Order: sequence, then structure tokens, then C-alpha cells
Amino acid sequence: MTIDRIAVIGQGYVGLPLALSFALHGCHVIGVDSDPDVCSNLKKGITAQTETYQGQSIQTILQTMLQKGTYQITDNGAEAVRRSEVIVLTVGIPIESGVPVYEYFEAACNTIGENLQKGSLILIRSTVIPGTTENFCKPIFEKKSGMKAGVDFFFAYVPERIAEGKAFEEFETMPTLIGAPDEKSFDKAAAIIRMISKADIIRSDSVMAVETSKVLENLQRDANIAIVQEFARFAEAAGMDIMEIIRLANTHKRVNLLTPGPGVGGYCIPNAFHYLNVKADELGIELPLLKLARQQNDRLPQFFADKTEELLQAAGKSIAGAKIAVAGLAMKDFSPDDRLSPAVMICNLLIQSGAKVAAYDKNVATRHPFKVDSFREAANSADALLILNRISRDFNPLEWIDEMKKPIVILDTRGIIEPEDLPEGTVFWRI
Ligand SMILES: NC(=O)c1ccc[n+]([C@@H]2O[C@H](COP(=O)([O-])OP(=O)(O)OC[C@H]3O[C@@H](n4cnc5c(N)ncnc54)[C@H](O)[C@@H]3O)[C@@H](O)[C@H]2O)c1
Repeated sequence: MTIDRIAVIGQGYVGLPLALSFALHGCHVIGVDSDPDVCSNLKKGITAQTETYQGQSIQTILQTMLQKGTYQITDNGAEAVRRSEVIVLTVGIPIESGVPVYEYFEAACNTIGENLQKGSLILIRSTVIPGTTENFCKPIFEKKSGMKAGVDFFFAYVPERIAEGKAFEEFETMPTLIGAPDEKSFDKAAAIIRMISKADIIRSDSVMAVETSKVLENLQRDANIAIVQEFARFAEAAGMDIMEIIRLANTHKRVNLLTPGPGVGGYCIPNAFHYLNVKADELGIELPLLKLARQQNDRLPQFFADKTEELLQAAGKSIAGAKIAVAGLAMKDFSPDDRLSPAVMICNLLIQSGAKVAAYDKNVATRHPFKVDSFREAANSADALLILNRISRDFNPLEWIDEMKKPIVILDTRGIIEPEDLPEGTVFWRI
């Protein structure tokens, strides 16, 4: 199949590697982003993302594709849609106070509808509230374009299932679900996906079933983490190591317990409950178990802030005025993504309690007022160290400890430190 041009709307964690993946496979891609800073950085070959593909960094791939002209970046979505046969939508629906904010997603749908060309294909890859593609997007596309779906243009819902940090690899190897209302839309969507994917392509003619399955994939991780956090509290009370228990339980072929860290962050998992809940409200049903799991995970930053205060007290120190070194601000190990990050929430809670927080994470670009530029600056004369994620493969918290004020307090949410490596008198807590 030959495609002249693909427009990828939204050049964030999903859209940029996806656009570059199509470009790597020989397509001409226009990346579209409404944020002028994103556009001007990408034009210069700059991104804070840490993806790699076959030994090349995303920065190298971006710069190569810009030079070859197979990847262009613009904030002019209208022109990009008019020039493209395929439009891929990756703009998300944020949640504010439990309520979805459609503003950005809707603006992108309007741009697509207003500029759609006859015969074009739209792939929606954003995670959405079940029913959005057919009840929200399709009417906008039809009304704004004056054309009929399935006749004059085509669309499919193709949820994005990658994990940040493995994007290029998982575009190729993760099975792709396609929710398409008719055979022709499916065939067109599958041909585009086949350009970048070697994995299975699975069709459902229920677009809403595919939308729901994507939300449930994220929700089962949310609930799994709430469960392992509860197991961790049990293991602690019984004087056992939760990591060892999980290692043992996961040797069962049908068990896959996730690891308890400092909480659940990022764009995907914390929002999933709210996406489903909007639909559940509409249907007049409740989701008590999933709601409880979400509430429990929401409480984790406060749990770890309280635990820090308790450990400081045990070392004869007060939270007020204590200097707390924090290792890791992203929502997971090695990641630049600090959206809804429990680490950031923990820092803010500690500051509210009067602590001086100095956090180091070289991957995170956000300018938090409590972020410092080196681990030494964070650790220097600190009363406590909180390990919230692994910043790099060679991250060694023992280097931090050398810089700290005795007696040392350590809270390790990743189970990295062994107590026997610590100086005598250290107050230590490990998940
Ligand atoms: N991040 C992940 O690992 C991941 C994985 C699977 C699915 N998803 C889903 O993919 C979607 C995108 O997630 P993301 O993490 O890439 O988000 P992101 O915030 O990193 O990227 C979205 C980009 O869209 C841009 N944008 C907003 N409105 C726009 C408009 N009208 N026109 C053009 N650009 C616009 C923003 O400036 C931003 O750069 C979400 O629905 C998310 O739930 C994300």
C-alpha cells in the first residue's frame, strides 16, 4: 500500500515516537502540535523523551528524519489534515477533579472534520470514555466535513497500548486492536498499522468494545497495584519482605502481581477509573471495587509523607525544617514523565509539613521549585533520603548517603537498599 502523507495530531509521549516510527518505515509524516514550544523544540531536534530504537536515541532519529524530510513538524493542523490521506489522533482527554476535559480532544476533532479530504482515513489512538469515537468524534467529522463516514471517509478506533520507554519496540511487537464499524474501514486501518507492526492485528466490529477493553487494561493495573500495596502493609506487619513474596507468587503461571512503589502516576492508569466511571454514571451503575482501588492509590502519597515524618521522629528529628533528599520525580523508573506523579505529590505534602525538599531526577524536564541539578546538591546535609524511583541504570543510593547528616533516615519505596549496607544507627524503612 502506498500512502503519500500521514498527519499525526499531538506530538507528545505517544504521537512523536509514533510519527517517527511511520517515518522510519518510509512514510512522509507531518507531526502536528498546538503547543508552540513543542513545535519549536522538535524543529530543532529537541525532545525530553528517553525512547530508543535499535541503539539510537529518539533525538538522533528525530534529527535524521527532519534532515531527510520524511518528518515535518507544524502547529498548522488544518493544512496538515488537508495534505494527508491518513490522520492519526493522539490528543488525550485529561481528567480534572474526576471530570473529563474534552477541550483539546474536541479542538483536534474539529480541525480534522473541517479539513478532511474525500477518501481519507482517521485513526483514533487516544484513550477515551467508551462510546466517544462513534457518539462524539464521528458526528463532528460528519458535520464539519459535510461527508458521510464509511462512504466518503473512513475511521477506526486503534487504542495505543505502548509503555513509555518501550514505544518503538512495542509499536512493532504489541498486538493491535482495531475497532472498525465496517470492513473497508478495517482493511484500510489494518494496512496502515501493518506498516509499523509485525504483531497480530485483532478486529472487533464493536468500536465501543475496543474502547472499553483499553480502559479495562489500564484499570486492571490500577487494581493490581492497590492489591499489592495492601499485601505490602500486611507483609510489613508480619515482618516479611513483600518483594520476596511477590517473587514467589509470580512463579505461578497464572499470577502476575505488579510491584508496589510510591504510588500510581502518569497519564494513563490514574485516569482510567474516571473514563469508565463517566460511562457507568450514564448507565446508572456503580463501580465500588474499582472506585476503592483508585481511592486507595490516591491516598498513597499521603501514606509515604506520613511514613517519612514517623521515621524522622524515630531518629529524633522533626519534619519542620528537616532537609529531605528525594531520588526520582517521574512516575516510574528511568522516565521523564512526571504527570500525576506520586513523587511530585509526596514532595508537595512534605513541603506543606514544613520540610525543605531537594529532589533530583535528571530525566524530568519540568522546573519544580524543589528540583535540584545534582544528586550531591540533593543529598548534601540531608536528614532523610526518599527513594521514589531509579533515575538511571547505575543509580546508587549509597553515594547519596555519604553526603547526608547522621543519623540517616531512609525510606526506600523501590526495595533497592539492603539494610546491611547502611551505617549503624540508620532509621530505615523499605517497601
Ligand atoms: N503516554 C503513554 O504511554 C500512553 C500509552 C497509551 C495510551 N496513551 C494515550 O494516548 C493519548 C496521548 O497521550 P500522551 O501521553 O502522548 O499525551 P501528551 O500530553 O504527551 O501529548 C499530547 C500532545 O497533544 C498536543 N495537543 C493538545 N491539543 C492539541 C490539538 N488540538 N492539536 C494538536 N495538538 C494538540 C499537546 O500539546 C501535547 O503535546 C492519551 O489519550 C493517552 O491516554 C498514552
